[in-house]
Amino acid sequence: MKIVALCGSPRKNNSRTGQLLKEVLAGAQSVGADTEYIDLTGLKLNYCLGCDRCHHLGECVQKDDFNSLFDKILSVDGLVLGSPVYIYHVTAQFKTWADRLGNAIHCQRLLGKYGAVVSTAGGSGQDETADYLELLLKRLGAQSVGRVACVLDDGPIPADAEPLGQARALGVTLARAIEEKKEFPEQLREQEGLRKYFRNVIIKRRDRWDWEYRYWLEKGWL
Ligand SMILES: Cc1cc2nc3c(=O)[nH]c(=O)nc-3n(C[C@H](O)[C@H](O)[C@H](O)COP(=O)(O)O)c2cc1C
Repeated sequence: MKIVALCGSPRKNNSRTGQLLKEVLAGAQSVGADTEYIDLTGLKLNYCLGCDRCHHLGECVQKDDFNSLFDKILSVDGLVLGSPVYIYHVTAQFKTWADRLGNAIHCQRLLGKYGAVVSTAGGSGQDETADYLELLLKRLGAQSVGRVACVLDDGPIPADAEPLGQARALGVTLARAIEEKKEFPEQLREQEGLRKYFRNVIIKRRDRWDWEYRYWLEKGWL
């Protein structure tokens, strides 16, 4: 079982979001998962060009780190998304990655995978940001097992602070959900409902979005 965490903070080793994400991974490792931590801000990720070619090709035309990262995500069982709150939302670096996920969302390409989210704030906005991160996971087709969303003081999180314990427990929960192939019926129903909506969109645009049309045909969703 492999779990990857993506961190949207630019503060490298000083990132408290990163500290929590690493603790989620440590929790997952403690029950047997193989894990990897990825600093999104250390990758070359350009803005989405809005060219629509991903719907036609099944991958992005840009030559940067997006496609190789996405291939890695496709190969793992679990994905942990983390961002600090920057002006009431995820960081621009995180959003730059998320804006590239149009094809992945239309095709729910993470169906069958599991995820969890982490958001940290200096004062407020952590719940809204965690809501967004979980929405992203669910729209990608993954099932979310939960979150750590908290307000933190300056400096590293003390070893005995509650969010660290919550993060470790979240990692265990994520690994166990993967192992047991746990089902979250409400999330599955929501995803099925979304497929009903997208079905018409995919059919209507079948000429321009031909890769996605073929993907939907292969999945038996049309
Ligand atoms: C540019 C910037 C914008 C921020 N915006 C907010 C905000 O809107 N609300 C808030 O509560 N904290 C805000 N913060 C504080 C961070 O969310 C908080 O310090 C967070 O824990 C940093 O996470 P990190 O250590 O992983 O980078 C902001 C910090 C920066 C640098």
